[in-house]
Amino acid sequence: MAPALLSFAVHQIDLSMTQFHSLTVQQIKPLTPTSVAITFEVPKELKQTFAFAPGQYITIKKEIKGKELRRAYSISSSPKRDHITIGVKKVDKGGFSHFANTELKVGDVLEVMPPEGRFVFKGTDTPKKVIAFAAGSGITPIMSIVKEVLANNPKNTFVLVYGNKSYAETMFYKDLVKLQLDNADRFFIYFTNSKVREEGSLFGRIDTSTVNYAIKNKHKNIEFDAYYLCGPEDMINTVGNTLEDNGVSKDKIHFELFSTSTETLAEASPVESDGKTQVTVILDDEEYSLTMNKHEIVLDAVLKQNIDAPYSCQGGVCSSCIARVTEGNAEMVKNQILTDGEIAEGFILTCQAHPLTPTLKVDYDDV
Ligand code: FES
Repeated sequence: MAPALLSFAVHQIDLSMTQFHSLTVQQIKPLTPTSVAITFEVPKELKQTFAFAPGQYITIKKEIKGKELRRAYSISSSPKRDHITIGVKKVDKGGFSHFANTELKVGDVLEVMPPEGRFVFKGTDTPKKVIAFAAGSGITPIMSIVKEVLANNPKNTFVLVYGNKSYAETMFYKDLVKLQLDNADRFFIYFTNSKVREEGSLFGRIDTSTVNYAIKNKHKNIEFDAYYLCGPEDMINTVGNTLEDNGVSKDKIHFELFSTSTETLAEASPVESDGKTQVTVILDDEEYSLTMNKHEIVLDAVLKQNIDAPYSCQGGVCSSCIARVTEGNAEMVKNQILTDGEIAEGFILTCQAHPLTPTLKVDYDDV
């Protein structure tokens, strides 16, 4: 299944959008025993730089135990507010999410890159009917989209199917219930708990039957304008395939991966390739040259030369590292973001690409 993504325009890059800025932590709110909502204050002079579309994410840079880490987190707040809130679930011992859940304090300053990402909702004057399927921390960008859809037009409708183990582990549970009570005639939530049978929730994981229940039973009279999927790869594949089986066109389906299966990563290990490649990198109007092994990943080789290329997840999930190949050829070991058309235009995820030709020119500005 390869749902179509929102297309993106080719433009000259705005340098302030690729730099990190210092933002102060204004509030830290526990969401579940293993997750927190972190709110950043956005000073007046950075308002424009940090303006965002609902569904976008920010990248945080933090040195932990002598190692620079970059992590991407989706924004859960409404673009109409003058702050930015993200949800961080503790997943990595010793990593940023552990630090954020245990050591981070109000008043701390973090280095943050301005919002980016193409998993977005764009409102129009005509009423929109939107449905989203989210699992676990995949709710964070959906929170922002829900708020925008409800605020954008009083005739907009939103259906949310949200999977977790239990209510106790459901991020933003109270906020969602409040939003639902405030918009009872047009915001419908189906909590789907897989470990604990609880009143008011469906039981099990989000699967084909859950999707059919929402679109063919509970809301069979609604023709949805857009479908948003956010969570682990298995859920996205199951929901996407079921929607397509039900005749939903690919261009209405938008998805954001929140993790990838280890199986897929193992299958996608770099292809054997010998020899060296002479690489030219264009970044922020500067030209750099380097030599790398063909089996190496382009982004790794670029970072080794201390070239300040953009990146975030390094897992082929976020698209921060996108660049255009203008000479030579490169192949991605894994790609679930770029469409066939974008690949044909020469776009690559540099964190997933290795060179195939003796020379390669990669332009980070022309994206
Ligand atoms: S850094 Fe996220 S896709 Fe490459």
